[in-house]
Amino acid sequence: MKHFLTLTDLTRSELQRIIRRSIELKAMQYAGEIHEPLKNRIMGMIFEKSSTRTRVSFEAGMAQLGGSAIFLSPRDTQLGRGEPIEDAARVLSRMVDVVMVRTFDHSKLELFAANSKVPVINALTDDFHPCQLLADMQTFYEHRGNIAGKTVAWIGDGNNMCHSYIRAAMQFDFQLRIAAPEGFDPKAEIVAEAGDRITLLRDPAEAVLGANLVATDVWASMGQEDEQEERLRKFRNYQVSRALLDQAADDVIFMHCLPAHRGEEVSEDLLDDPRAVVWDEAENRLHAQKALLEFLLVTHA
Ligand code: CP
Ligand code: NVA
Repeated sequence: MKHFLTLTDLTRSELQRIIRRSIELKAMQYAGEIHEPLKNRIMGMIFEKSSTRTRVSFEAGMAQLGGSAIFLSPRDTQLGRGEPIEDAARVLSRMVDVVMVRTFDHSKLELFAANSKVPVINALTDDFHPCQLLADMQTFYEHRGNIAGKTVAWIGDGNNMCHSYIRAAMQFDFQLRIAAPEGFDPKAEIVAEAGDRITLLRDPAEAVLGANLVATDVWASMGQEDEQEERLRKFRNYQVSRALLDQAADDVIFMHCLPAHRGEEVSEDLLDDPRAVVWDEAENRLHAQKALLEFLLVTHA
């Protein structure tokens, strides 16, 4: 049994296989083909933070694969009343076939996985968001082909998405330039693991020079609402705009995991620019997670 807590939980070839399969499952879905390898299988979904895309893509994906999903929030489960995460993992994993967890501390997810009899999927923690990277890697492949050897620029916060881009650089073999304001670099130990694939910079213009993919994310993540004002000030030179993309490679594309704050990390018009592929990227959450579920519950079972 395998968990998917970060991109390094799977091998490079397993990740490639999931991306290829995601593209196939997308074509099958478009053709109206019924494909139900997870008939009678159930997913538990623990959400300790808000979500639109992750919830809908997992629920819709399970339904399309013939299974079902149960949404669990701390507001109306015993998790919100202090039942230990280990106990919840032991109980839930006797009832469902796979569990996805969106929470704060990554260690809480690891504790859940250590006590689970069934595969556990990271649906975002403070440190990583690997499901988003499956969708991003698929989206790059569909628009531009293999990302190996390409240059990617991450502009803004050294957050969970940035950490996942670092792991993606290791697993999908690209160069990653990160431009973050001082004090907002990604965690040093995560950067160190990726060695010379990562370049840390301060200047967004320098980071995007010749980049084939530019990506960013909100300046204040979920759980950082108190820092919103301070972050708005400190990140103000880190907005991705059409003019910034003009300095990247001619074939550059732009990604954002969404939700986006227009006028903050992206200019008002950026998501309407033909170089922005954010709607394809969001849709691919569905297909990529279906491929992941099939891999964890059928191929690797
Ligand atoms: N990108 C993403 O994970 O979106 P949600 O927070 O809406 O799930
Ligand atoms: N970095 C953001 C991503 C949201 C999908 C957050 O953690 O809130």
